[in-house]
Amino acid sequence: MWGGRFSEPTDALVQRLNASVHFDRRLALEDIDGSLAHARMLSAQGILPADDLLAIEAGLAEIRAAIEADRFEWKVELEDVHMNIEHQLTAAIGPAGGRLHTARSRNDQVATDLRLWSLRNIDRLDAAVGDVQRALILLAERDGEAILPGYTHLQRAQPILLAHHLLAYVEMFDRDRGRLRDARARTAECPLGSAALAGTPFPIDRHATALALGFDRPMRNSLDGVADRDFAVELCAAAALSMIHLSRLGEELVLWSSQEFGFIQLGDAFATGSSIMPQKKNPDIPELLRGKTGRVIGDLVSLLTTLKGLPLAYNKDLQEDKEALFDAVDTLFDCLVVTARLLPACRIDRTRMRAACDDGFVTATDVADYLARRGVPFREAHHITGRLVGACIAERRTLPSLTLEDFRRFSTDFEADVLLAVTVEASVKARTSEGGTAPARVWAALTEARARLGFADTRQGA
Ligand code: ARG
Repeated sequence: MWGGRFSEPTDALVQRLNASVHFDRRLALEDIDGSLAHARMLSAQGILPADDLLAIEAGLAEIRAAIEADRFEWKVELEDVHMNIEHQLTAAIGPAGGRLHTARSRNDQVATDLRLWSLRNIDRLDAAVGDVQRALILLAERDGEAILPGYTHLQRAQPILLAHHLLAYVEMFDRDRGRLRDARARTAECPLGSAALAGTPFPIDRHATALALGFDRPMRNSLDGVADRDFAVELCAAAALSMIHLSRLGEELVLWSSQEFGFIQLGDAFATGSSIMPQKKNPDIPELLRGKTGRVIGDLVSLLTTLKGLPLAYNKDLQEDKEALFDAVDTLFDCLVVTARLLPACRIDRTRMRAACDDGFVTATDVADYLARRGVPFREAHHITGRLVGACIAERRTLPSLTLEDFRRFSTDFEADVLLAVTVEASVKARTSEGGTAPARVWAALTEARARLGFADTRQGA
């Protein structure tokens, strides 16, 4: 493609190192879409003869069909996806193929392709996160009445509804979708027409190509157009954070499916056995939600590091953007899809969850709240309750087993109704503050989440 200036062939190792076609061929369909939009614009602007446009359209259609049927012959000596396609086009249609690159450079071409690919994949990821949210909501509707201890420091803290716990993840994933959509708005600006870096003397119409490709508008500055990879960083960052949410969920599924917790059983399709220990059922898939998060964080760091210190405008370093971005998107997508399928296959053990609330003093806060409602300063109420819990531990007793006389040994502010206030069910029911775990709040939150996410309500009678 640039043979004119050179007298020696490229060194074989240089060719391999320099080539990107083995990974950037994933951009082939975006590259063809970009070329079609460019050629049509050139023709509309009187820069490309009409019969050349017809030949280019027919040639690119043929190439697209060959790529889709996996019979396109990719050549490493043609370096990248752009030159492979252009070379094949020229081989097929002759000089018209050589006119396609008028008023364009691979620099704006690759930036356009990658933005287009990102837009399409943001939409796929957004839908896949939505499927995880739907799975969480359906599980909350199926088993959400179950009461389990909520934890802080992984110590039993206060009882909560399972639905409340699951809805916490619905919220995280909602913000993830917001980040994807924010990134989308900034990705939807088209670099095409920036040419190599400085623009072009040809009378091109950048608005026409931008709109034809589904972008909102052309990018304002040609240097920025070819040098910027913010959009890829934003998508990687959104992917990394979404993976972190999956990782936290994965960690809880690992804990909950352990014999120590016994809160859930994973479906057999989402667990594996051990090659030596016949009794084992291992939570490999939740572990991988956790494990694969590291590589997506790595993808983000790799991309940031590539960009750091790069002078304007295009530099070959930018070719390193693609594998990180592809890996982040692929990994997140697969993890989202598997999570949406794994959640409904979980068996919830409501009895084990409820039993875990019985021996951890999870209603101690309710005892302190009880005294505070009777005018005891909360700090003092906290202290009295602490002594009461300490005595229970010493005597191997639990809060619900105490009599009114037991309570009154610690404070005469206790009346008979304290015995009702310290039950696990009363504790959950009492937390009626906005965003709290009281059933009325949680069922309303579930209905609201469904409406917000636009899911049809499938509950019986709803
Ligand atoms: N394969 C290159 C990349 O991915 C395309 C742009 C090459 N431009 C250039 N001037 N060498 O970045």
